[in-house]
Amino acid sequence: MHTGFFTIPRYILAERIAEVFPEKMNRVLFTIGGSMANEAALKIAMINRPDAHNFIALFGAYHGTSFLMTGATHMATYAYEKWLGPAQIAHHSYNFMRVPPPYYYRPYTEVSNPANADEVDNNALKALETQIKYGSTGPVCAMLMEPLQGSGGQLIFSKKYLQGVRDICTKYNIILIWDCIQTAFGRMGTWSASEYYGVTPDIMTVSKCIAAGFPLSAVIISDDIEGMKMNGMDLHTYGNNQLSQIVALKQMEVFKRDGIFENVKKVGRYLGDELVKIQKRYPVMGDIRAIGFHIGIEFVKDPATKEPDFEGCAKMRVVGFKNGIIFGDGGVCGGKNVLKIKPPLITTQKEADMILEKYLTCLAEVYGKN
Ligand SMILES: Cc1ncc(COP(=O)(O)O)c(C=O)c1O
Repeated sequence: MHTGFFTIPRYILAERIAEVFPEKMNRVLFTIGGSMANEAALKIAMINRPDAHNFIALFGAYHGTSFLMTGATHMATYAYEKWLGPAQIAHHSYNFMRVPPPYYYRPYTEVSNPANADEVDNNALKALETQIKYGSTGPVCAMLMEPLQGSGGQLIFSKKYLQGVRDICTKYNIILIWDCIQTAFGRMGTWSASEYYGVTPDIMTVSKCIAAGFPLSAVIISDDIEGMKMNGMDLHTYGNNQLSQIVALKQMEVFKRDGIFENVKKVGRYLGDELVKIQKRYPVMGDIRAIGFHIGIEFVKDPATKEPDFEGCAKMRVVGFKNGIIFGDGGVCGGKNVLKIKPPLITTQKEADMILEKYLTCLAEVYGKN
C-alpha cells in the first residue's frame, strides 16, 4: 500500500501525532527514512515559496545522504576536510548555503568572552541575517537545521538562539524546518524539541525513535503553510508502511503508559550529573553536553588549550566495543572528538550505573587510571 492509498493506521497515527505535537502542527506526511523526510520537507517549502530556490543549513549539519541531502549535510561532518563520501557528489545538489551555529565551547566567531553564551548567540544570529541579506544569490526558501545538532558535535543550542532563528525566518518569509530525526520522540524527554524549548518551526521531520526501529519517518506540517498535494509529488512504494505505523501507535501508547519520558528525564539527569563528577578526575572530558538521553562528551588533549583529541575519542569507541558498550561519535572541529552516549529510552538507573562503570573502564584503558 504505497503513499497513494488512504489506509487506516496512517490516519490514526497522524491524528495521535497531531494530538501530542504543538498546537498548529496538525498535518503529517509519512515516508521512508530521515533523508526522504527532509527531502519532502524541502519540497513543501518550495510549494510555499515557489519564487525562492536557496536553502540554508548549519556548519557541521548532518541531514542524510540521499542525493539532495548530500548538499544539506555539511561535508566536514562526514568527510572531515578530506572531501570523501557524499562530498564527491555534493556539487550536484547546489543551492545550500551554510551559516555557523552557536558552539559555546569553541565559538566559530570571535567573542570577547567564550563563556558569554549570549554573545555567541548574538554572533550566530547576526551571521544568519547577514547571509540572508547580503550573501544569497536569490530569495531564501527554507532553513533546515537540527534543534540539537547530533552528529555534528552534539551541540545544544539555547532557547534564545532557536527563538532568534524563528524570528529571522518569519521576518524574511523563510520556511523553518527542524530536523528532529534524532531528537523525537522522547530522546530529550519530550515528544519533540519544540515541546522542550517552546519554539515551533513550520515543519518538523521525525524518524529514528518513532517506530521502535521499524522503518518510518514523518513530516509534520504547520497549519500556517501549504502541505503536500496528493499528486505524486512525494510517493514511495514503502512510504506508507502500515506495520511500522501500527508499531509507532503501540509505542506511543507505551510511552504514556509506562512514563518513559519521565524516565528519560530522570535517568538522563543522573547520567549527566555523574559524568560531570567523572570529568573532575578526567579533565580530557573537555565539555559534556547532555539533555535527557542525548549525551555527548567532547574529548580534548588539554582543557586549557582545548586541542581536540581525535585519537583518544576513537580509542574510547574501540575499547567500548571490547567492553560491551556501543558509543557513537561525532564532532565538528576537523574530526570526531565527541563521544556520544545514547541509551535506549527504557534504560533504568541501575543500567545507567552499568553504562557509567563501562565508561570508566574504557577511560582507564585509554587515559590511565585516575
Ligand atoms: C539528524 C539526522 N537527519 C537525517 C538523518 C538521515 O536519516 P536516514 O539515514 O534515515 O536517511 C539522520 C541519520 O542519522 C540524522 O541523524
